[in-house]
Amino acid sequence: MHGASWSIGIRIFEGVGKGAMRIDVVTLFPELIENCLRSGVVGRAQERGLLAVRTWNPRDFATDSHRTVDDRPCGGGPGMVMMIGPLQAALERAQDGDGPVRTVYLSPQGVRLTQAKVAQFARGPRLVLLCGRYEGVDERLLAHAVDEEVSIGDYVLSGGELAAAVLIDAIGRLQDGALNDAQSAEQDSFSDGLLDCPHYTRPVRGALGDVPPVLLSGDHAAIRRWRRKQALGRTWLRRPDLLARTELDAESRRLLDEFRREHEAARDQTEAGTRPD
Ligand code: ADE
Repeated sequence: MHGASWSIGIRIFEGVGKGAMRIDVVTLFPELIENCLRSGVVGRAQERGLLAVRTWNPRDFATDSHRTVDDRPCGGGPGMVMMIGPLQAALERAQDGDGPVRTVYLSPQGVRLTQAKVAQFARGPRLVLLCGRYEGVDERLLAHAVDEEVSIGDYVLSGGELAAAVLIDAIGRLQDGALNDAQSAEQDSFSDGLLDCPHYTRPVRGALGDVPPVLLSGDHAAIRRWRRKQALGRTWLRRPDLLARTELDAESRRLLDEFRREHEAARDQTEAGTRPD
């Protein structure tokens, strides 16, 4: 088939269930996407037919013998720009088919990705991701064919592929049945606007310290309160910007107050211990 590359394998794509989320990726480096998504939760989600990822290489849609996909920037300057022709043809093939499609261009100029945005994309049913290389994509194609531009952070990657893989991973693990423990996604960092609490496993005593006793108490209400308090405290310490945007109920406000008082008392004690007499 012209330009088509079955990124994760025909077997998996054909095995996809009716409700599966479909993600088409337009990229000059399909193997980057494939290699990133082969393992772990998202690899399994594809094997279970919960998610189908397919890649389209614009080079396969080039019309000259050199399979050219880029050209010099108008106005001069360094680097090359991805030209409209092959990219538009690849994009149209990727967008083809049933169901409403959102087309997203990955770029540092985009709106910063959040868990809320991931959850919105994860509701599907389809997404087309456009990965840029070189200096970027001819702006006219972006204006014509792209619904939104998304960045995964304020740093520059050498192309959109790793950003696309990050987005697909975050979407894939939210598909129903992707995670073994149904509760895990609800307990994720950011799912309620807060960072996650700390986690521990055995041995309960060790050279690096002991597991907090409450986690061994069997008192589920106390454990839930402790976890909530740690999540609130960590968010207050590390990401006050998140906390400022999160509405807290009365219990959460009380737990955070408790955390702050304990944190400040511990800090005062440390300072007293290190002060010269
Ligand atoms: N392409 C290059 N850098 C990127 C970034 N930070 N986010 C998304 N796509 C990119």
